[in-house]
Amino acid sequence: MTTPRSIRIFDTTLRDGEQSPGASMNLTEKMEIAQALVSLGVDVIEAGFPIASPGDFASVRDIAGTVSGATICGLARCNNADIDRAWEALQHARQPRIHVFLATSSIHREFKLRMNEDEVLARAVAGVSRARTLCGDVEFSPEDAARTEIDFLCRVVEAVIAAGATTVNIPDTVGYATPMQMHRVIKSLVDRVPNIDKAVISTHCHDDLGLAVANSLAAVEAGAGQIECTINGIGERAGNCSLEEVVMALRTRSDHYSCDTRINTQKLVPTSRLVANITGIQVPRNKAIVGRNAFAHEAGIHQDGMLKERRTYEIMRPEDVGLERTDLVLGKHSGRAALADRAKALGYQLTPEQLQTVFERFKLLADRKKEIYDGDVAALCEQQFAALPEQFVYEGYSLSSDSGSAPTVTLRVHQEGVPKSVSITAGDGPIDGIFLAIEKLTGITTVCRDFRVQAVTVGKDAQAEVTVELEHAGQMQRGRGVSTDSLEASAKAFLAATNRLALGASPRLHPQRP
Ligand code: KIV
Ligand code: ZN
Repeated sequence: MTTPRSIRIFDTTLRDGEQSPGASMNLTEKMEIAQALVSLGVDVIEAGFPIASPGDFASVRDIAGTVSGATICGLARCNNADIDRAWEALQHARQPRIHVFLATSSIHREFKLRMNEDEVLARAVAGVSRARTLCGDVEFSPEDAARTEIDFLCRVVEAVIAAGATTVNIPDTVGYATPMQMHRVIKSLVDRVPNIDKAVISTHCHDDLGLAVANSLAAVEAGAGQIECTINGIGERAGNCSLEEVVMALRTRSDHYSCDTRINTQKLVPTSRLVANITGIQVPRNKAIVGRNAFAHEAGIHQDGMLKERRTYEIMRPEDVGLERTDLVLGKHSGRAALADRAKALGYQLTPEQLQTVFERFKLLADRKKEIYDGDVAALCEQQFAALPEQFVYEGYSLSSDSGSAPTVTLRVHQEGVPKSVSITAGDGPIDGIFLAIEKLTGITTVCRDFRVQAVTVGKDAQAEVTVELEHAGQMQRGRGVSTDSLEASAKAFLAATNRLALGASPRLHPQRP
């Protein structure tokens, strides 16, 4: 028996994940996710890109100052201003890391940087050297490494390690690589870079071809010791390597990979739910590991096999990823203790005040719905964690409509404690009418980019979960609402996104765009 190799998990949900359109998070939300990542057991948290905006700086600084138990990393382009700003935000972390990056592929050198190979190499070395004067832990990423000529990539990697980089990260920035190619790139670095043993090799794969997890695993097989990934695979464009998938692949197929991680896999589902809830980016039902259907067995023959021996159709145990199978249904007469038990089993640690609020909402829900399932309890708990300062608090609506004519909608909210209402006759159906009423009442006109409804659990009286994505003045925000009444869920979702837009976003730099 060989001792398994330990693979570091570098989570970039708060940086690359936040680059998903509409996924921007505020300081409180980022702090909550950072704490959840520590209890999940990640080794490194990339908390943000400090020079991007004062808000980004503040969140990296606050996470660095308060969160312990993982290395806290800040991203910097390869210039003094970025590197110094990153250090300013990170300096109070117990384990700080500066992550410097510079593109190396010919297409980026020619069209984006307008620099030749020697200039890129000199800039990379200068950036890493400067970062090393500030911080003992420095990561360097040759952006678009997977499309970089291998000879040049080897030269850059050797030079930045000599300059003091302690981790070299190999990004497949545009999700173009294939597993065999990724394996070849990492193996070439292992075989050809003379000082490679002085640094940890890392991988950072995007999912444009749906290969991010496969490419990351191939990199590990070739010698990478760190995987960069995000919860639910969120990130720029098609996203990043999904943390839960890559971790469970290493664990479930440890016979093949002989690797392990420090991840407490029972926290995967609760962390996934937290991130989905905060970002508003819902997890597809069929998503591996954390999707609602990931452990559901529909076909009779499968169910029969499962009853005889669950390993016939299950390669992982649901409880190992934090899903408890239960037939326990709560209802009107269930008490606070039963609710607290279910919430805890589902991975929600509620404070006594949060439990009180969830219990009050649970009682209201039980009046509207006979049976309360785990999904309902999860939705009630998540509303607690998602609580943001709201300028407009939903109160209720009334509506009359006839097919073929505009509905009449009255909408009631509280604005900073003051009741407000508006009545209109407008819209192409009840949902449009409600949205127009909200726009009139808040004075914020938006373009609806996405609107989705799904049932939280089963049954005709299931709660509807609505998510919307709204755009206003170049800013995109998501909102989510849950109710047994799908119109009310729509109103809540629309108002939640409008509240986020009302908070306003300060202009921020994108690390990879000019
Ligand atoms: O995808 C990428 O190349 C990145 C770098 C900044 C590491 O996100
Ligand atoms: Zn990336």
